[in-house]
Amino acid sequence: MRHPGCWKMLTVAMCVALLGCLQAQELRGHVSVILLGATGDLARKYLWRGLFQLYLDEAGKDYSFSFHGAALTSTKQGQAFIAKVLESLSCPEDVAPDRCSELKGQFQRLSAYRHLATREDYMALSKDIEAQVQRGGLREAGRIFYFSVPPFAYADIARNINSSCRPGPGAWLRVVLEKPFGHDHLSAQQLATELGGFFREEEMYRVDHYLGKQAVAQILPFRDQNRKALDGLWSRHHVERVEIIMKETVDAEGRTSFYEEYGVIRDVLQNHLTEVLTLVAMELPHNISSSESVLQHKLRAFRALRGLQKGSAVLGQYQAYSEQVRREQQKPDSFHSLTPTFAGVLVHMDNLRWEGVPFILMSGKALDERVGYARILFRNQAYCVQNDEHWVADQSRCLPRQIVFYIGHGELGSPAVLVSRNLFRPSLPPESWKELGARPGLRLFGRPLSDFYAYSPVREQDAYSVLISHIFHGRKDSFVTTENLLASWGFWTPLLDGLAHEVPRLYPGGAENGHLLDFEFGGARLCFSQQQPEQLVPGPGPAPMPSGFQVLKARYRESPLISAWPEELIAKLADDIEATAVRAVRRFGAFHLALSGGSSPVPLFQQLATRHYGFPWAHTHLWLVDERCVPLWDPESNFQHLQTHLLQHIRVPYYNIHPMPVHLRQRLCAEEDQGAQTYASEISALVANSSFDLVLLGMGADGHTASLFPQSPSGLDGEQLVVLTESPSRPFQRMSLSLPLINRARKVAVLVMGRVKREITVLVSRVGHEPKKWPISGVLPTSGQLVWYMDYEAFLG
Ligand code: BG6
Repeated sequence: MRHPGCWKMLTVAMCVALLGCLQAQELRGHVSVILLGATGDLARKYLWRGLFQLYLDEAGKDYSFSFHGAALTSTKQGQAFIAKVLESLSCPEDVAPDRCSELKGQFQRLSAYRHLATREDYMALSKDIEAQVQRGGLREAGRIFYFSVPPFAYADIARNINSSCRPGPGAWLRVVLEKPFGHDHLSAQQLATELGGFFREEEMYRVDHYLGKQAVAQILPFRDQNRKALDGLWSRHHVERVEIIMKETVDAEGRTSFYEEYGVIRDVLQNHLTEVLTLVAMELPHNISSSESVLQHKLRAFRALRGLQKGSAVLGQYQAYSEQVRREQQKPDSFHSLTPTFAGVLVHMDNLRWEGVPFILMSGKALDERVGYARILFRNQAYCVQNDEHWVADQSRCLPRQIVFYIGHGELGSPAVLVSRNLFRPSLPPESWKELGARPGLRLFGRPLSDFYAYSPVREQDAYSVLISHIFHGRKDSFVTTENLLASWGFWTPLLDGLAHEVPRLYPGGAENGHLLDFEFGGARLCFSQQQPEQLVPGPGPAPMPSGFQVLKARYRESPLISAWPEELIAKLADDIEATAVRAVRRFGAFHLALSGGSSPVPLFQQLATRHYGFPWAHTHLWLVDERCVPLWDPESNFQHLQTHLLQHIRVPYYNIHPMPVHLRQRLCAEEDQGAQTYASEISALVANSSFDLVLLGMGADGHTASLFPQSPSGLDGEQLVVLTESPSRPFQRMSLSLPLINRARKVAVLVMGRVKREITVLVSRVGHEPKKWPISGVLPTSGQLVWYMDYEAFLG
């Protein structure tokens, strides 16, 4: 016996307690709760309190209990810690003081510290539990192991429990796991496989404490109890948008070593906000008390999530963050973190119910207030004739119509369910939710509280207490199953990968953030409302203020160069194109734009399609710089790219669109069909002086531009405006504007993106005019302007 003192204490405590609690009552069994990491922060703040609440709720009912606080701390220290925590426990207001002190005394006697490290320790624990149960003449009902330990300790503990501390036949085992559950899909899968080697799925309870928040736990019951009213409302036909928000005022100071690895998306969006999202969006099962069907419906909701793209998110980082990381992790002055502490993400669901409805997920540290909610905002198609002073909350169709699951904090200061009075009077279980009293002067989402039917819990309970009770009752729907966990990581991992090198927008923190982090969406993209060039590479010293940001302007091959991170670069290029277009239309009545193919311009097309409402499309002529000799409907066709990413989203007159005639008489780029000459004639006829207002080019890793490849026998000089060329890669045949025609343009923009271009960028910076070797070096407008647009990876590597 390793700790005879402890054992003796425990035996006495158990006997007294068992006798005390059992009295004459017939018990269904004994439950042992083993809290691993019993001296840690989470245990101190929430878990002991939650276990005490469990005891308050269950004492004198069907089961007897023992609570084992386990850790690696020495027995003496552990005992002292636990004694202190237990002493500080208090009962909720609805428990009479006498009853409270009696139950608290019992709980203290039932709880003991135990040093738990080796396999032998676990064997000894198991034996002790068996002996206790036997002495009490009881049957063992089950064991709960609560892992409040860092994930690296999981495997050892799991192995020890599995090999040496499982309860005997007929009794259940429940292991409770705390996040993080991995870092991405792969690591979550590995962790799940590892744990799956020790425990069965039904034995694992993965905690997401947001599922224990009262307003979150009420989402499904609310939907269920108000089915009749909601049936006609809960869909894309009526919902304008859904906001799922968790704002915090605290920052990450003191926990940057954790935070640096995770960031806000992994820390909050992947789990808490996603769980809330699925509860709002899933189809409602017939029987919401069936854990199995709730979990299955949730899984289906995951499957309906549309994949995220880089442009689906905006990221921020509070300014003091990097300095905190440097200090807490002894990093050099030059260290700058890219970890986001703020994120807004636009999510869509591809199913009949939610098609087209934006779900906005947002969370951040160092914001102006602490508040969390899921808000369902309904469309409003009413027009009210009377002055708004006469709008009456429960009658006027013009007031905002919304349902809010108010998770907590904020102006209201407590969890609540709010339903606009002009929607319907909701039904909530009266034993656990009560109507909120009047709070004159209080406004929520810009409306007085009196606009809502507002309910709050009769007894406020913290999330952990709720979840511990659900663990005890085996309510698996309040926990994250392996399948759901992997589905969630499957959804978030591509976005996380895509954003890995994204520079978050810096924000000062608190109220000073002003509108810096406001964002808006168009189509599938989300962007900050305030356009603001990002800083290049922040230097050491105090973090720059918003006014100190800049895009790098330099020169490259003696022409202006603009460099920035990809998103800002594209935004800048799109702005410049629009400005050029507006000027050209004002001066000449038309704007002639020639666009390249390939992948680099795709984000530019998307940007132009979704963000440039003032673009003079009606007066713009769109030409192709080059084309692959494939039918125009072929996915490889440059025209197809243009069509998919730009043309179908804008209104350009058909006769202003000029695809290259690569497909004539049912054949591709046949010399005899004279496609190149036809295109040249069309240009000469429509474009004054054959001088495009703007030609957008790219630069290939081999130095090609347009479809003019090194050693090209044509198109580098001479009279021809449009030529047929050969590419070293498929499809080999191409049609291209010639260098002489390109160089007649008023403006040429060369867009170069990505690390793969770094080598050629360096090389071309040094070579002279050698278009035979590097056609791009032949681009030099005769009287127009050349501007290079390079992202940092292409320019700086
Ligand atoms: C945790 C995150 O899961 O949730 C923290 O790791 C965050 O970063 C916390 O502060 C917020 O929880 P609550 O209950 O305070 O809203």
